[in-house]
Amino acid sequence: MADLSTSYMGFKLRNPIIAGSSGLTNSVENIQKLFSHGAGAIVLKSLFEEQINYAINKSYDQNENNYSYPEALDYISQYTRENDLEKYLNLIRESKNRVDIPIIGSINCVSSSEWVTFAKSIQDAGADGLELNIFVLPSDPRRKAEQLEQIYFDVIQSVLKQVKIPVAAKISSYFSGMTNMALQLSWTGISGLVLFNRFYSPDIDIDKFEVTANHIFSSPAEMSHTLRWVAMLSDRIHCDIAASTGIHDGVSVIKQLLAGAKAVQVASVLYEKGFGQIDIIRNDIEQWMNKHRFESTSDFVGKMSIKEVKNPAAFERVQFMKHFSGIE
Ligand SMILES: Cc1cc2nc3c(=O)[nH]c(=O)nc-3n(C[C@H](O)[C@H](O)[C@H](O)COP(=O)(O)O)c2cc1C
Repeated sequence: MADLSTSYMGFKLRNPIIAGSSGLTNSVENIQKLFSHGAGAIVLKSLFEEQINYAINKSYDQNENNYSYPEALDYISQYTRENDLEKYLNLIRESKNRVDIPIIGSINCVSSSEWVTFAKSIQDAGADGLELNIFVLPSDPRRKAEQLEQIYFDVIQSVLKQVKIPVAAKISSYFSGMTNMALQLSWTGISGLVLFNRFYSPDIDIDKFEVTANHIFSSPAEMSHTLRWVAMLSDRIHCDIAASTGIHDGVSVIKQLLAGAKAVQVASVLYEKGFGQIDIIRNDIEQWMNKHRFESTSDFVGKMSIKEVKNPAAFERVQFMKHFSGIE
């Protein structure tokens, strides 16, 4: 029987399918269901800096007239923060009581400030690992690329000082020096790099003249972009890669593993097709492994990375050429 287990961030996962951070990983009931359908690990919904700040500010607004002493306001804001955090910590504790796969906490961060202490609390609550979803929208014309990139290192270094559990960084591909950036990030001591996050993108309703949300879920075609970078980076960087974005079926998981990912993260497909899709994907990988007589995932992970393929230019080619695309 094919052995689907893999290693990622120092964990032995029973299979490479990780339920990525989303609203679906925000309750103990769902964690248990994802476990029953065979998820290899689960990344909890992120704790947002914004969310915490909102809670603090809301408390300030409501209590401004009632408290004349700044100390009282400080107390209230601290209480709100801890209360919010407590819910998250309970989710970790309860999840750990119910399932025995790695539970990875997650924080959306844009700075290396106060939330670092949350990282320690997440560890203390029993999370097996921590994923840092770092992204700073480069919208400020005064901030140069180097300043923005420095934030990633500041965040990672300050978190690594706080925790002993393995830490992964989830990043976007919006770097002009992608390979160098990934390499440098992998030297910081992180155990995993999640390639790539996918963002909420605004749209415009042309009749209502309103800014709306669209394409909340990925399409399978989007996984090619991740595939290129997984193949280009997997031999070079010094930590494990989890592929993310556009992975909806067993075939796309196999492709990402062949390119060198140790695991994949899925989110959109769980919303669209339900948690049973994890069973289907697992089954498809197993059948494919049997067909090709692979006994374990290590027999084929990285078999099609840029170093291993006969024609690496096929990954590096970006402009359409008849030779590669078949179309001119
Ligand atoms: C509704 C929704 C909520 C999400 N929330 C988070 C989040 O809190 N933190 C995070 O790191 N990623 C979040 N993501 C991103 C996913 O974890 C994932 O990286 C992205 O959707 C690409 O994977 P997919 O193509 O399988 O959806 C969210 C995605 C969706 C669709």
